Amino acid sequence: MTYRTITADAAGTWKLGDLSVSRVGFGAMRLTGSAAFHHGTPSDRERSIAVLRKAVELGVTHIDTAAFYFSALRSANELINTALAPYPDDLVIAAKVGPYRDYHGEWGTSARPDQLRGHVEENLRQLGRDHLDVVYLRRMRQDSIAEHFGALAELREAGLVRHLGISAVRPRHLAEAQAIAPVVCVQNRYALDRPDPESDALLRLCGEQNVAFVPFYAVAGDAGEQGATAAHDEEVLAVARAHGATPAQVRIAWTLHQGPHVLAIPGTGNPDHLVENVAAAALRLTDEELARLNAARLQAG
Ligand SMILES: NC(=O)c1ccc[n+]([C@@H]2O[C@H](COP(=O)([O-])OP(=O)(O)OC[C@H]3O[C@@H](n4cnc5c(N)ncnc54)[C@H](OP(=O)(O)O)[C@@H]3O)[C@@H](O)[C@H]2O)c1
Repeated sequence: MTYRTITADAAGTWKLGDLSVSRVGFGAMRLTGSAAFHHGTPSDRERSIAVLRKAVELGVTHIDTAAFYFSALRSANELINTALAPYPDDLVIAAKVGPYRDYHGEWGTSARPDQLRGHVEENLRQLGRDHLDVVYLRRMRQDSIAEHFGALAELREAGLVRHLGISAVRPRHLAEAQAIAPVVCVQNRYALDRPDPESDALLRLCGEQNVAFVPFYAVAGDAGEQGATAAHDEEVLAVARAHGATPAQVRIAWTLHQGPHVLAIPGTGNPDHLVENVAAAALRLTDEELARLNAARLQAG
C-alpha cells in the first residue's frame, strides 16, 4: 500500500449526535511518553505535536483524550491545545472522566459523582475550551453507573458538555444510561486477538441503537497498556502480506469492518505509525479474509 496520500476520508464518517467524525480517529494516550501510563521517559514534545498536526492534516476529526493522560513532563491535553488551537471547526475532541491520578501520577479511586464537574473543568482548562464535544463516563467497576452518569447529564444540561458516552461498561449499563440521557458512544476494550462475548454483544446493541462503538487497544490487543508487541497471529500476518500492509493496519481494518458504527482510535507517538494507521482507512478485507481472522479470534479465546 502507498500510505502517504491516503486520508481518513477513505473510511467515511459517523455522527456522534450532531457531530460528524472520521471513522479513523486518534487516541492521545501514547503521546506523553513511554511505559504503561507513562511513568517512563517523557515523549519528545515536538514529535508529539507533529503527530497531532499530521493527524488533522490527514483528515482525522476525532481525537480521544483525558486529563489523566500525562507523564512527568507532558500532558496529552496540553499537547492537543498547543498543536491544534485554535481548533478546526470540524474537530471533535472526546474526553473521559471517572478515573483520576494525583500530581505524582498515582491512581486514585473513582471520582465521586459530585467531583465530576471538577474533572470536566480540568479538561476544559487544559484544552482551552468552554465546552467539551463528548465526555465519557469511564466506569470504575461500579455496579450501577446511574449516579455518575446522572451527574454528567446535569453538566450536559448546563452546557459544559455537548454529548455523552460511557466506557468500560457491560451491556446492561447502556440501557441504564439511556434511561437518564442520550448516549452517543460506547468505548470498550475490543481487539482481534481478544474475544469477549460481552463486548461483542455491546457492539451489536450499539449498532441497533445508532450508538458508536469505539474500541480501545485495537492495535495493542492483548498487550494492552504495555503497548503493541511484534508478535502477531499467523492469519494476521498472512492477510497483511496479501495486501502489502502491516499487522497494525490489518487490526485497524478488521475493527472498521465490524460495522459502520465502529470507530477506530489507534494511539501512537510515532509519526510514521500515524500515517500507516490512517492509511488503514483504505484497506478493504475480503469476506474470506474476515472469516479467517474471525476463526483465529475464536481460537484465541
Ligand atoms: N476507555 C479506556 O479505559 C481506555 C483505556 C486505554 C486507552 N483508551 C483510549 O484508546 C486509545 C487507543 O489505545 P492505545 O493508544 O493504547 O492502543 P492501540 O492503538 O491499540 O495501540 C497503541 C500501541 O501500538 C503501537 N502502535 C500504534 N500504531 C502502530 C503501528 N502502525 N505499528 C506498530 N505499532 C503501533 C503504539 O506504539 P507507538 O507509539 O510506538 O506507535 C502503542 O504501543 C488511547 O490512545 C486512548 O485514547 C481508552
